[in-house]
Amino acid sequence: MLIDTHAHLNFNAYKEDSFEVLRRSLDNGVWMINVGSQYSTSKRAVEMAEKYENGVYAAIGLHPIHLETEVFDYEKYKELAKSKKVVAIGEIGLDYKPEYASSEEKQKTVLSQQLKLAEALSLPVIFHCRMSHDDLIKILSENGSRTGGVIHCFTGAWKQAEKYLGMGLYLGFNGIIFKLNLDEIIEKTPLDRVLLETDCPYLTPKPMEGRNEPSYVKYVAEKIAKVKGLGYEEVVEITTKNAQKLFRIPASPAGR
Ligand code: NI
Repeated sequence: MLIDTHAHLNFNAYKEDSFEVLRRSLDNGVWMINVGSQYSTSKRAVEMAEKYENGVYAAIGLHPIHLETEVFDYEKYKELAKSKKVVAIGEIGLDYKPEYASSEEKQKTVLSQQLKLAEALSLPVIFHCRMSHDDLIKILSENGSRTGGVIHCFTGAWKQAEKYLGMGLYLGFNGIIFKLNLDEIIEKTPLDRVLLETDCPYLTPKPMEGRNEPSYVKYVAEKIAKVKGLGYEEVVEITTKNAQKLFRIPASPAGR
């Protein structure tokens, strides 16, 4: 069994067939966390997860690229988090890519509000961080990442990875490892700190093409096994355990 720790079947790219894609993933032994980026997609992630007893979970949060169109409403997100299927706050963080950026100050303020929510609810955090690792490291080392979490889609430098790992955080890898050369980071990151993800519908791993989906997470596992010189089964087993531990996801009753 694999766990795609960062999927977006709650996004409009799957408007017509989200449950078909979801079923295909579960049938392939791939569980998932659908991750919200605004209130509407967070709510949709929770609604999807609520339909399944096992295998489908939700993360809720306001992504830094949506701060110009949405104000973070602590109480509304707290209410959403009452669902037992909410396993994390995310994706939240910092994004300094110029075309997306709200002011850095505003991003930091909203991030700290959401970190408070994570702490109040004792939920781990799924961090989005683009062109802003040094600021995120500074924030986390000053305030601590008290509930743990993952730096999703990590593409930074090893010296930044080391800092996150030193704070007890996990690194998430997806299909971007086929586009950028992250071999050194993958080699040096202990397997017990690696999480697998797709970030679907984006970042489709090779050899697949077109819209990404959770069942393709196996290609990310294969590539990590190859780079680390480990067996595929070992990578699957350990990364699944990592996800179960961080997000407190129960083991599959069927054991697959
Ligand atoms: Ni994402």
